[in-house]
Amino acid sequence: MGNVLVLYDSKTGNTAKMADYVAQGAEEVGDTEVRLLSVDEAHADDVFWCDGLAVGSPTYVGVVSWRMKRFWDEAVPKAWGKVDGKIACAFSSSGGWGGGAELTCLSLYILLMNFGFLVFGVPDYVGEAFTLHHGAVVAREPKREEEIAACRRLGKRLAQWVAVYVNGREEHWPGPIKQR
Ligand SMILES: Cc1cc2nc3c(=O)[nH]c(=O)nc-3n(C[C@H](O)[C@H](O)[C@H](O)COP(=O)(O)O)c2cc1C
Repeated sequence: MGNVLVLYDSKTGNTAKMADYVAQGAEEVGDTEVRLLSVDEAHADDVFWCDGLAVGSPTYVGVVSWRMKRFWDEAVPKAWGKVDGKIACAFSSSGGWGGGAELTCLSLYILLMNFGFLVFGVPDYVGEAFTLHHGAVVAREPKREEEIAACRRLGKRLAQWVAVYVNGREEHWPGPIKQR
């Protein structure tokens, strides 16, 4: 059984909708338990519990929201040095395309790496000229098919990597060709 936490901040609901789809994607992988929690509900224990973590934040001035930053600054310092090796990824909703959502994912990766999380990107295309190489990003709420697919693909990939690397379930390897 793999444990996946989808942790998000959302003031006006857009990142929360992304988080729902990310959680749905993780649930597609058998024997995965998924917790979907807002940053106001989550505790450090949820971070200890998970094997894989997807973190979502709205884009605020090109970076992570202050509420999400506060969670890691205040609630989780007791986890520093104790969560190394967990697998993590990021997603963000911004007001517009080019508004900094990928930079927000990058700021989340920097934060996660500081705690020792292993962060990953997704090389897949989920629609015409639409990918999630550096995390799932959407302008406002996820509406179009490919926007929803990007969120789901991120969650599914997280659960797949947890299955493979944490639980040794090689059959969940996502790539068509296994190159090792
Ligand atoms: C303080 C603040 C800063 C923002 N900065 C940006 C920004 O830099 N780039 C952008 O595209 N949108 C920006 N936005 C818009 C939000 O990223 C956007 O509305 C997002 O969908 C909100 O997500 P939420 O509904 O999950 O809260 C900002 C909004 C706020 C309130």
